[in-house]
Amino acid sequence: MTSGPIPMIIDTDPGVDDAFALVLALRSPECDVRAVTATFGNVGREQTFPNLRRILALADRADVPAAAGAVRPLVHPQAETAPDWHGVDGLGLRADAFPAPGPGDARSAVELMADVLTSAEAPVTIVCLGPMTDAALLLGSHPALIPRIGRIVAMGGSLGSGNTRGAGEFNIYADPEAAHRVLTQADVPVTLVPLDLTMRCAVEGTWLDELTAAGPRCATLAGTAALYRSTFLGRYGRDALVLHDTLAVLEAAVPGTLRTTAFRLGVACTMGPERGLMVPDRRPEAPGAPVEVALDADVDAVLTEILRRLTTLDRVAHAAQPGHR
Ligand code: RIB
Ligand code: CA
Repeated sequence: MTSGPIPMIIDTDPGVDDAFALVLALRSPECDVRAVTATFGNVGREQTFPNLRRILALADRADVPAAAGAVRPLVHPQAETAPDWHGVDGLGLRADAFPAPGPGDARSAVELMADVLTSAEAPVTIVCLGPMTDAALLLGSHPALIPRIGRIVAMGGSLGSGNTRGAGEFNIYADPEAAHRVLTQADVPVTLVPLDLTMRCAVEGTWLDELTAAGPRCATLAGTAALYRSTFLGRYGRDALVLHDTLAVLEAAVPGTLRTTAFRLGVACTMGPERGLMVPDRRPEAPGAPVEVALDADVDAVLTEILRRLTTLDRVAHAAQPGHR
C-alpha cells in the first residue's frame, strides 16, 4: 500500500548529474521535496548554491526553500574538484542559459534540515548527492532529530576502483570523515548507490536528443551535458553522460528500484593514496550497522523511466524562461 509522497531533503553539489537528479526529484510525484541544500563538491559552494536556485527556477519550484551548506570538508581541505567534468560554473559552462537564481533561505543547510525534520509529520528521506558533510553535521548537532529521518539515500563509494586521483569515489574522497560518520550511523538506515552501479547508467546522444526535443527547459538541462560528454569521451572513449545522482533520487522516490546487498562499511580516512577508499566488512560479527549497497538494477528500465519523468519538465505552468538572468 503506497503511503503518499515521501517528505524529502536533497543535499547536492550541482553539478551536471546533480541538475538532472534535482529535476527528476522535482518532477516525481512520489517526492515531496521539503528543502534543498547546496554543499561544496564538484565546484565551490559559491557556485553550487546559485546553481541550486537556478535549477529550482528552471523547474518553476520557487516554493522549495534552498539553503547554503558546507563550504569545505569536516577536517582536511578538499583534495580535488571537478571543473573538467562540470565546468568552472558547475553546469557545464551553461549556467547562463538558466533562469536567474531565485532567493536563498536565510537559514544554514543544517538549520533548514533540522526545521524540516522537526515539522515533518512522517519520516523524512535525506538524499545526499555530493560530499556527506552536511549530513554528518546534522547527525552530530541534532541527535534528537535522528529518529525523524526515515532513510538516507546517498550516491557515493565504490567496491571497485574510484574516479579520483586517489582510490576513492569523488563524493567520499571529498570528505572521508563525513562519509565514515554517515555510513556507520547505527540508527539511520542508509542506502548507498556506488559507482559499481552508476557507471552502468550512462546515456548517449539519442537519449539526450530525446530530452532536448521535449521543450526549451529540457533543452537547457540537456545542454549542460556537452562538456561532461567530451571529457568522458577523452577519458573512456565513449560519448556519454553518467547519470550518477539520478539513480539515488529514483531509489528515494520509488524504494526498491535498485537491488541492494547489505554490507557493513568503513572509509579509509588516512592521508595516503588509499584515502576515501570504501572498505566493506562482510564478517557477520562485524561492528556497526549494515548499509544497503545498490549493486544492480534493470538499467534499461531505469534510464527509460528517468527520461520519461525528465521530459515532463516543460509541462510546468509558469516556469521562468531559460536564458533570463
Ligand atoms: O562520483 C560521482 C559523484 O561525484 C556524483 O555525485 C557527481 O555529481 C560528483 O559529485
Ligand atoms: Ca553530485
